[in-house]
Amino acid sequence: MKEIVLSGIRPTGNLHLGNYFGAVKNFVKMQENTNAHFFIADYHSLTTHPTPADLHNNVRQVLAEYLACGLDPEKATIYIQSDLPETAELYLLLNMNAYLGELERTTSFKDKARQQPQNVNAGLLTYPVLMAADILIHRAQKVPVGKDQEQNLEMARKFAKRFNRMYKVDYFKEPIPYNFNEELIKIPGLDGSGKMGKSEGNGIYLIDDEKTIRKKVMKAKTDAGPTVANSEMPQEIINLFTIAEIVSSADTVSFFKEKYNDCSIRYGDFKKQLAEDIIAFNTPIREKIQAIYSDEAYLKKVAQMGAEKARINAAKTLKEVREIIGFKSF
Ligand code: TRP
Repeated sequence: MKEIVLSGIRPTGNLHLGNYFGAVKNFVKMQENTNAHFFIADYHSLTTHPTPADLHNNVRQVLAEYLACGLDPEKATIYIQSDLPETAELYLLLNMNAYLGELERTTSFKDKARQQPQNVNAGLLTYPVLMAADILIHRAQKVPVGKDQEQNLEMARKFAKRFNRMYKVDYFKEPIPYNFNEELIKIPGLDGSGKMGKSEGNGIYLIDDEKTIRKKVMKAKTDAGPTVANSEMPQEIINLFTIAEIVSSADTVSFFKEKYNDCSIRYGDFKKQLAEDIIAFNTPIREKIQAIYSDEAYLKKVAQMGAEKARINAAKTLKEVREIIGFKSF
């Protein structure tokens, strides 16, 4: 039996090239060798009070983007969190054994409380409990997590152990981090910084059109240019070459590297070429996102199929948990 690996996806923001070559690429691989579960965490997103229209459109956009990148509903279980109310019931049950002190101490809660002081709701406080319910409802063994989610996964382990101890059972397995075996390719930002990221506004999104891409690349940070042959490249130029190595041909890369080395490079020409190569790479993905986004029947089929698959595990877990706790129907 393949191990169950599960990841939640926040329905906020669009995927950029950094995501594409990082987590998303690994998700696509994960579906080949694990029993992969992916869900869109729309319950979680209520902590920021989206309007009903935004809530739905964000879920739809994120689903379309991940499907366009290769998440496959035949291979993985792909569902919307709120289509699986079993999660919500397990969350309720786990909440009874989660303590105010430990929840208040989590870094993500403290960060959020600082970011939205006017809306420090109980959902924010119990965010790690809901995340634990997401994982434990499938009794998932592994969860791919970035640095920012390690503590939440730690909490999920704590809640699992606590449940076992409280009811003197060995029911929940402790979920552990899933490590991708290979190195993640890190795509640098266009502003000379280390990493392409959402908040930095230095990224190229998969849905960016040609004009936007050209504008962003032409505005990318560069220095005044080399004056000494074979001099070391500054970080922002290394960054542009790193992106070129992914989207451009080997000939293009060596052409501009030579020009850099003999000090005849014109960054404007390099950027023009780079922009065209990014456009060539992005365009088919962007078109696929748009096609899936507007195919309501397909999205409905994917969501229904995912919910059905997810429910098999989830219903079983919930029934067993209710029995362990001592609920008995008359
Ligand atoms: N908290 C995760 C994030 O912000 C999303 C998430 C929700 C999640 N439930 C999960 C991730 C369960 C892994 C497992 O990215």
